[in-house]
Amino acid sequence: MPGRFQKLDHKPRVIVTRRLPQPVETRMAELFDVTLNLDDHPMTREELAAAMGEAEVLAPTVTDQIDAALIEGAGPQLKLIANFGVGVDHIDLAAARARGIAVTNTPGVLTDDTADMVMTLILAVARRVFTGERMVRAGEWQGWSPTGMLGHRITGKRLGIVGMGRIGQAVAARARAFGMSVHYHNRHRLPKAIEGPLEATWWPTLEAMLARVDIVSLNCPETQETHHIINDQRLRQMQRHAYLINVARGPLVDEEALVAALERRGIAGAGLDVFEHEPAIHPRLLELPNVVLLPHMGSATFEARQEMGEKVITNIRVFADGHRPPDQVLEDY
Ligand code: DGY
Repeated sequence: MPGRFQKLDHKPRVIVTRRLPQPVETRMAELFDVTLNLDDHPMTREELAAAMGEAEVLAPTVTDQIDAALIEGAGPQLKLIANFGVGVDHIDLAAARARGIAVTNTPGVLTDDTADMVMTLILAVARRVFTGERMVRAGEWQGWSPTGMLGHRITGKRLGIVGMGRIGQAVAARARAFGMSVHYHNRHRLPKAIEGPLEATWWPTLEAMLARVDIVSLNCPETQETHHIINDQRLRQMQRHAYLINVARGPLVDEEALVAALERRGIAGAGLDVFEHEPAIHPRLLELPNVVLLPHMGSATFEARQEMGEKVITNIRVFADGHRPPDQVLEDY
């Protein structure tokens, strides 16, 4: 909407909810009237409410639940939520839109690292990497044997990607290099120019794809439509030898149903970097041998976190200059 963004005549008052890489914090302190979270504790709801009563720009992360009530209670000075991260499922976008608060994220700069983590989990689960590592550390390894530590080859396997955006496509490119065939389910079929080099097959229905692939990788955002996109019914459609990989968002998977499927060997295993109620982990997941569990570290490289911070800074600066920030997520704002 023309005129929506107005140039500020002062340094924007910015509150950052977690510690960011040091060069990012230093630059923010130079450019903005900033309050940093020096002890890095996840903010309580009360602290977030207080921050939203004071800041012109809030720079939150995935650990902050910015729900409708918090947004409705924000002070009139809050004009931008500049998220440090690409996923914005923890922010009530409709409430932000209704209050005229812009929301930005940090796309692109964590694509490769997140896609690498998908491949890490595929290999770790299929080749039983952590089982072997634990055995060595426990002093239980008796030496090489022809039938020891057998896993499954990934070359030649069918990978089904749910959500073929930036990260899904980066996973597909890596999977091709490993000799896997790429299948994907997306609302819209990709143009031939993208599908062609990946030799990717589009499946209009998720159910049909789940029944045919050996590995399923979730790479879609969490929205009302994708919440529990993997539920009991869909887990039953997967093949018994199939693996589920999730580096996107925990609530894409009904965790109770996943645990049940793994326990009855309805699927062969799972590689999870995200959890439905993180940082809490379903206690029965911890007992299962056929899962690899990681602490939401898909974008955890020095490079990605630095570049994410730079994107947050750019979004705030462009906003404070009175222009539409480059990574505005509300298309109709
Ligand atoms: C992201 O960028 O969405 C990561 O998951 C951290 O929030």
